[in-house]
Amino acid sequence: DKMVKVCVLGAFGGIGQPLSLLLKINPHIDELSLYDLNDCHGISKDLSHINTKSTTSGFDKNTLKDALQGSNIVVIPAGMARKEGMTRDDLFKVNANIIKTLCLHIGQTCSENVKVLIISNPVNCLVPVAIETFRKLGKLHPENIMGITTLDIVRAETFLREHLRELNNDDIDPLDHDVISVVGGHSGTTIVPIIPDKNIIKLLGSSRYKQLVHRIQFGGDEVIKAKKSSGSATLSMAYAASEFISTILLSMTHGTGIRSKEQKYRYLPAYVYLPGLKNGAQLKRHLKQVAHLDVNYFAVPLKFKNGSISELDPTILTKLSQEEIELLRAAMEPLQINIKKGEKFVQNTAKM
Ligand code: NAD
Ligand code: LMR
Repeated sequence: DKMVKVCVLGAFGGIGQPLSLLLKINPHIDELSLYDLNDCHGISKDLSHINTKSTTSGFDKNTLKDALQGSNIVVIPAGMARKEGMTRDDLFKVNANIIKTLCLHIGQTCSENVKVLIISNPVNCLVPVAIETFRKLGKLHPENIMGITTLDIVRAETFLREHLRELNNDDIDPLDHDVISVVGGHSGTTIVPIIPDKNIIKLLGSSRYKQLVHRIQFGGDEVIKAKKSSGSATLSMAYAASEFISTILLSMTHGTGIRSKEQKYRYLPAYVYLPGLKNGAQLKRHLKQVAHLDVNYFAVPLKFKNGSISELDPTILTKLSQEEIELLRAAMEPLQINIKKGEKFVQNTAKM
């Protein structure tokens, strides 16, 4: 069997540490590489005593190249996190520089088949930063670059479950095949929950449905507030990233990359560059037609082959309620602004 190496950039941080723990116990990983500006030798030593088969190595700010060398997957939670009163956009300047620099090193060090998974915020802008950086390097592979939005899906499932419990409905399990999913971007009104079975929207009723949508869109704020200025979501994010990475690893070991619960298959969305992907043009046309939404980046369910995106799966967007169409419409302007900001940031850098 092929050896799988996963590298975490920002492994010392609030997300980085629990994510590294979850990756250490993932049976599909052989080698775990932990890098941060803070020296990661300590957390690597600590994790290395866990009796799972993978090996771990820690790196510091002088050894990024060694950390990256031979990686199949690079996951990036490096960068500043929000505190109360900040928007994700406030993180742009600092984190765009970090993502650009890290992507340059990835491009120079890793094979062109490396998967680059971005957690750092603002995801809506930083995936375009990554795409444009790889384009400039002449090594653009959109099928390998993704912004992780899984936390929005995890929240959607959790919050929907709470509502269904209150309604004493235990026939519907939100973890079943596509009961709820989330498309669009990863901030405020760009986050668009989709419920394929419109009867569930009816069952919730208008006020509950509105509450649910709002809570999914602003779930990040809820955590920041509860943490009282110490930071944003870290543990739930680590779980979400680990779930997403598992689907990619599954596709490397068998088949298409699925998240399964009792044999029910589903495809997790991520925020990707549509023009570079199979079904991307089709999806763009569809969004334009139904919601006058015209964007090049969008989170949508993905199918994988050998760890790379093989195609987009726009099935959940074929049937939309009027409310969902309006949510999609509202997402366009902020998304377009975010995307342009990311693209410009790289295009305005004369030389790299
Ligand atoms: P944190 O401050 O706890 O950790 C960030 C880590 O990044 C620190 O250890 C820091 O040393 C490291 N770092 C900074 N610059 C670096 C560089 N150039 N190379 C390597 N490491 C570097 O923050 P956190 O709570 O772990 O959050 C990290 C990022 O993830 C934030 O931008 C946050 O907004 C984002 N986030 C995204 C989602 C999502 O759904 N995609 C969810 C939660 C948080
Ligand atoms: C989240 O959704 O929790 C993250 O994007 C962190 C944040 O800043 O809200």
